[in-house]
Amino acid sequence: MTPMTTPPYESRRDPHPAPRTPSEREAILAEPGFGVHFTDHMFLAEWTPDSGWRDARVVPYGPLSIDPATAVLHYAQEIFEGLKAYSHADGSVWLFRPEENAARLRRSAHRLALPELPDEWFLGSIRDLVTADRAWVPHGGETSLYLRPFMFASEVFLGVRPSKHVTYSVIASPAGAYFPGGVRPVSIWLSSDYSRAASGGTGAAKCGGNYAASLLPQQEAIDNGCAQVAFLDAEKHRWVEELGGMNLYFVQSDGSIVTPELTGSILEGITRDSILQIARDLGHEVVERRVSIDEWRDGTADGTITEVFACGTAAVVTPVGALKWDGGQAVAGDGEAGKVTMDVRSALVDLQYGRADDPHGWMRQVV
Ligand code: PLP
Ligand code: COI
Repeated sequence: MTPMTTPPYESRRDPHPAPRTPSEREAILAEPGFGVHFTDHMFLAEWTPDSGWRDARVVPYGPLSIDPATAVLHYAQEIFEGLKAYSHADGSVWLFRPEENAARLRRSAHRLALPELPDEWFLGSIRDLVTADRAWVPHGGETSLYLRPFMFASEVFLGVRPSKHVTYSVIASPAGAYFPGGVRPVSIWLSSDYSRAASGGTGAAKCGGNYAASLLPQQEAIDNGCAQVAFLDAEKHRWVEELGGMNLYFVQSDGSIVTPELTGSILEGITRDSILQIARDLGHEVVERRVSIDEWRDGTADGTITEVFACGTAAVVTPVGALKWDGGQAVAGDGEAGKVTMDVRSALVDLQYGRADDPHGWMRQVV
């Protein structure tokens, strides 16, 4: 749906007249949390069928004024992405495989009948916002600047059809660990009543509606002392799909690593894809195939599965301690972070923070 009229990417910057002071900023960067603080600027652009994408601009961060009849508020025609900017020891700032986020945003746009954003525009928007707010990229530890590109139906219209006015924005949020408490095994709740995505649905798209549907089971997880919810396939309730915001990996006793294959209802995680390669680089055989919930339960009980971990941009690589359900639990190994999990994790973060070579050419310098 990208019309020929979208011009080559070019943006303007409207600097914030009263940005936070250096000491206000440093106080936030010292304890950023996740998704609670935002930088001084944001990126905006709009699309219409006649003019294509236009008016790319970096402007002061602030509220958007939305008419109550704006389509996204009623029919949830919205998609988003998540990626991070990493500070390296020499002060340079880097992105990890941003072209993959650009491509996934295009795929999500297609599924939600939104206009595709050309990759040049996506990459330009990220570069321009990070450049404007480079002082907000935290240094040290496993901190980063979390970038949230999103696109929504901004036409004022209540008819049910694809919006003819669409807004694309990027906001940025300094980030520490996604799970408070650092790299510690998390417990996962198995949702028995709810599914995340059905065959032919929107599971492979990164659209807000998928997350809305996951919130009730996610609350059930929290009520049961778990950090995240695991979903099974919607039809048979048998095949392991993913967590509310992360993909899953199972380490086998023979050293091989298994991850659920992509079925169209699982998000095609960029961390998941990277770990397929990183684990092979570390000498593991990696298999994408269906994993049943019985295999998870029985494999952890008889030692065939020695470690379970979850992965995603926000949560990086997180060990899974116990999988819990009403009346039982399955614990991999001794319930602590396993060696393979931590080796994969170190290889990934060393690359992202510039402490290791980048044999696959995944890192992109921004500033
Ligand atoms: N699965 C879901 C449902 C997610 O929201 C995410 C996070 O983006 C992932 C998996 C992991 O994807 P990625 O590694 O691209 O961040
Ligand atoms: C991410 O890992 O970037 C995600 O989008 C997961 C969650 C914060 C929605």
